[in-house]
Amino acid sequence: MTEPISEAELQRRLAQLEAKGLSRLLPSADMRRAAELSLEIDRLKKEKNAVVAGHVYQRPEILAAAADFTGDSYRLAKLCAQTAADTIVFCGVRFMAETAKLLSPQKTVILPAPEAGCTLADSITADDVRALKAQYPGLPVITYINTAVEVKAESDCVVTSANAELILRRFYKKHPRLIFIPDALMGANLAQTLGKTPGRDIILWKGSCVVHEGFNAGVIRSYRSRYPGLKVLAHSECPPDIVRESDFAGGTSGMMAYIGKTCAAAYMLVTECGLGELALLDFPDKKFIAMCRLCPYMKLTCLEDVTAALKAPSPFQIIQNPPAETARRALAALNKMFELAG
Ligand code: 13P
Ligand code: SF4
Repeated sequence: MTEPISEAELQRRLAQLEAKGLSRLLPSADMRRAAELSLEIDRLKKEKNAVVAGHVYQRPEILAAAADFTGDSYRLAKLCAQTAADTIVFCGVRFMAETAKLLSPQKTVILPAPEAGCTLADSITADDVRALKAQYPGLPVITYINTAVEVKAESDCVVTSANAELILRRFYKKHPRLIFIPDALMGANLAQTLGKTPGRDIILWKGSCVVHEGFNAGVIRSYRSRYPGLKVLAHSECPPDIVRESDFAGGTSGMMAYIGKTCAAAYMLVTECGLGELALLDFPDKKFIAMCRLCPYMKLTCLEDVTAALKAPSPFQIIQNPPAETARRALAALNKMFELAG
């Protein structure tokens, strides 16, 4: 029998969540529910020796009331590999939970929203990669982490938005041409930065992110004229015309770091809405102009799902180990990233 939560405990948790700024983003009725679930999640984490990982695009109550660690794809992959917990509850999308499982095959990895996919990961299969390799024999395959395990297994190296530029530079020291999959827009942005020509020096696939492909550069121009001193930060999954209009382009961690070390009149974050909410909490004295789109997959996970998954995960929520040879090859591509990115 579990002890009921006392009113004093609930008030203490409410105060903690308020101190994190959550009440700026949630209606007060939802704050009480978030505090109750947060206490229940803590109790279950202790009982199961579990941790909760939360990607920065998750709902703010997941990040403030449930997550033990938060971050971008790269940071979460590293922290999940390092944790001593027996169970990882991954609040994010499927490819992220699969990456955690690859890095910790002995741990139980749970994805509370099993239908949380990603349009980039869905854009390419292992057969597609094998066909590309047959068409361009000998070229190294550099693969964005937003892909299935089977696709990683066909790759030479995985990258994330935080290290793609660095790793491509390293590969270009030894190879005049390479294959970059599956994000055509990120690939075009990388080609631009590195002075490479798509189709010649960098072979791209036709994948894109449903969130980032939809931004409009005209909106950026009109806001710049209304807000002098505005800094525009775009995720590198955005189309090249958006990146050209921006002051900074990179991954979510790079965008947050840029805000932290600059002092602009206002910031516009051209990415998923969760990052803007996080920026509001982390930088309460800075001004943000809303320009965001919601990821339908990232927003599937609620605190109720985390609680239920911790109590008794369904078979669909538990990430299974891939076949041994697939895991071995995918892990080699991931470890190549850790080696090159440091
Ligand atoms: P980050 O690794 O930059 O957080 O990006 C992950 C992602 O899915 C962006 O859409
Ligand atoms: Fe995938 Fe785009 Fe959602 Fe990121 S924001 S998980 S790339 S669909």
